[in-house]
Amino acid sequence: MRAMVMREFGPPETAESVELPDPEPGPGEVVVRMRAAGVNYPDLLVVEGRYQHKPPLPFTPGKELAGEVLAIGWEVTNFVAGDRVMVQVEHGAFAERVVARQEQCLEIPDEMPFDDAASMGLVYQTAWFALRERARFQPGETVLVNGATGGVGLAAVQLVKALGGTALAGVTTPAKAQAAVDAGADHVIDLSVADLRDGLRAQVHAVTEGKGADICIDMLGGDPFDAAMRALAWCGRMVVVGFAAGRIPEIKANYLLVKNIEVSGLQWSDYRDRTPAVMAKAQAEIFRLYGEGRLKPAIMARLPLDRMAEALALIRDRKVIGKIVLEA
Ligand SMILES: NC(=O)c1ccc[n+]([C@@H]2O[C@H](COP(=O)([O-])OP(=O)(O)OC[C@H]3O[C@@H](n4cnc5c(N)ncnc54)[C@H](OP(=O)(O)O)[C@@H]3O)[C@@H](O)[C@H]2O)c1
Repeated sequence: MRAMVMREFGPPETAESVELPDPEPGPGEVVVRMRAAGVNYPDLLVVEGRYQHKPPLPFTPGKELAGEVLAIGWEVTNFVAGDRVMVQVEHGAFAERVVARQEQCLEIPDEMPFDDAASMGLVYQTAWFALRERARFQPGETVLVNGATGGVGLAAVQLVKALGGTALAGVTTPAKAQAAVDAGADHVIDLSVADLRDGLRAQVHAVTEGKGADICIDMLGGDPFDAAMRALAWCGRMVVVGFAAGRIPEIKANYLLVKNIEVSGLQWSDYRDRTPAVMAKAQAEIFRLYGEGRLKPAIMARLPLDRMAEALALIRDRKVIGKIVLEA
């Protein structure tokens, strides 16, 4: 089989497309023929050696895929050959054949194409856990999504709307704002304004009758995070998802006290590994909302597997709006 391999951590351009032996499933494992693999920002961090978990070298990157079960190992009870599945793994998805434990696989709806399925795992699950588990979102609440033009951000905007909330799309590049509007955002909040510290709060207050946002889902860190803390409503909830803007922010505890604010962190992969049943419940709701036409991944490009470096470079250079999938 063909697989993308990193022999050292470094720029995506150093990846090699190599021929490897076809994998065999061990006990409790399945082998999946990859049809589409979702490319995500964390893949770039892994490849560059900047991710919190570093795989042993050499390794194949890629955290999610969709395809057909080719073979099952001893003790596999959930799947048979031919089943259409989505798979979430720590790494290894950017290959023609992928081995996964059966609990890392979920059956996908019959009508769902593989490229949609490969785009509806990581970013939608991250948005779902941020909203539902960490922020305890309730219908009618207002959610500021910082980084709304990214993969997680667009998924979060769609989910907020699908679940009955008001979505404020915080965008760092106003020229890309239309993508957030297309995803259903009620209002665009410009995070590129000169005086962001006061400017963000003024924009949020202008569209919430001076109340502020009930929740902020923050993919950015840095100045947008600091400013968003000031734009939260009383009893507001801030969810830390990522630091795409570069700086890891620090929080003054008196601020939490004065407005009864909660801050929580979200690590998607912990839910994947520790609570697969909760993950399955989350995905079932995501699939249901997809079936009802209320969620739809925005796939910007489909590239062949051996153009992985190009896909990751588009993410690195901030040229992506929505998702890129690799196909085999
Ligand atoms: N905690 C978790 O479990 C988890 C899961 C998934 C992702 N994440 C993290 O969440 C963040 C966003 O992921 P994503 O998949 O949505 O990424 P993405 O699709 O590449 O989008 C990145 C977003 O960040 C914005 N951004 C602002 N400043 C940026 C900068 N200096 N460099 C790059 N992007 C910048 C981009 O806006 P522009 O339009 O201005 O480029 C875009 O909206 C990343 O930090 C990622 O590691 C965390």
